[in-house]
Order: sequence, then C-alpha cells, then structure tokens
Amino acid sequence: MTQDDQKRAAAEAALAHVEGGMVLGVGSGSTCAYFIAGLGRLSARVDGAVASSEATAAMLQAAGIALLSLSDVGRLPLYVDGADEANPQLQLIKGGGGALTREKILAAASDLFICIVDASKRVDQLGRFPLPVEVLPMAVSLVADQLSKLGGRAILRSGFTTDNGNLIIDVEGLNLADPVALESEINQLAGVVTCGLFARRPADRLIVGTDESVQEYH
Ligand code: 5RP
Repeated sequence: MTQDDQKRAAAEAALAHVEGGMVLGVGSGSTCAYFIAGLGRLSARVDGAVASSEATAAMLQAAGIALLSLSDVGRLPLYVDGADEANPQLQLIKGGGGALTREKILAAASDLFICIVDASKRVDQLGRFPLPVEVLPMAVSLVADQLSKLGGRAILRSGFTTDNGNLIIDVEGLNLADPVALESEINQLAGVVTCGLFARRPADRLIVGTDESVQEYH
C-alpha cells in the first residue's frame, strides 16, 4: 500500500464512528481530505460539521456538509483529525499544515478525539518532526529567541500566514521527553498562540493505516 492508500484506509475506518444526526469536528490535511470525501457519502445523515481551517471548510461545503461554528454547538461528540507524529500515549505533534490552533480548540471541545494517520506517523518518542508554533507577528523574534533558549533551532516558515493572520515558527531539536511540561512551557511564552504539541489533551483513539491492515489504539 502507498502512503496515500494508508491515509485513505485510516480515514475510511474513522467513518464507522460517525453517527446519524451528529455535528462533528473535522481537522485539516491530506488524511482528513480522504475523511471528508467519505463524509460526503454520509452527508444525508450528518447534521453538520465544524471546520478546523478555511481549506477544510471549503472541502466540507463541496461535499455537501453544512458548516456550523463551535459557538453554535458548544461541544463536539466527535473530532477527527490527522497528525504529523503520534506516540504510544496518543500524544501528537500537529501543525504541519499550519492549522494547529483551531485544531487544538476543536480537540479541547470534543468528547471523542480520533486521530487518523498513515504508518509513518507512529513514533516511540515525539520530536523528529519540527514542532510548529503559531506566533503573533510582532513577537516573532522574541519567541524565536526564547525557543532557542529552550534548546531548539527556530525556523520561521517562509511565505506562510495562518488562517488567524499569524506566523509559524518550526522548531527543530527540542527535547520532547516530557511533552506535557513542554507544551505548557511553550504555550506560556508571551506572543505564542499555541504550539503543535497535543499532549495535555491527547487523542482518545489512534487509527493507523498500515501495509497489511488498519490498526486501532486507545
Ligand atoms: C495540519 C495538521 C495535519 O493533521 C498534519 O499536518 C497531518 O497532515 P497529513 O494528513 O496531510 O499528513 O496538523 O495542521
């Protein structure tokens, strides 16, 4: 199976968790694009969705799914999203696509957070993938400096602005032995909107498309 086949298989498996009359949250990225394609087939029995990015909102609309805001629904019974890395505790690095802040909000608002990935995303310890950090533009040099003091190499994502009008710093080489502590530490830096560590609120389930099958962890 190719990586894309694995993504599609994980996304299709997640559709089994979509119940009639649901308003669910939908993440961003290529694995979620397969999920949205499948959701389109169920559009008649889904009441609507809350999107984690403008790109996802456009795909949901094209698939015939009604768009709602988080304030319309309060909480989400289900949130489905991809990841850049997932460890055995189902803690994640996200934000490769730059949608981490809205994704983190939807994850926080969800009763069941299902992460869908291809096999390459499973790691024993987080940290090979550079950690994305969303930063207010005026604070970029200040935050980059502080991230360097934490032991990382901070690289401004060039030519990229988030849906919230902010910038992304990708951080290489951080020690991620304690993801919960590091998530809190980075999120407290003045000027940081949020970082792409999803450790305080990890996924509840991880669905992995592999060469042989689809594996589910929780
Ligand atoms: C976007 C994300 C994505 O979930 C992550 O980058 C994985 O993307 P893909 O499914 O394309 O591999 O966090 O902000």
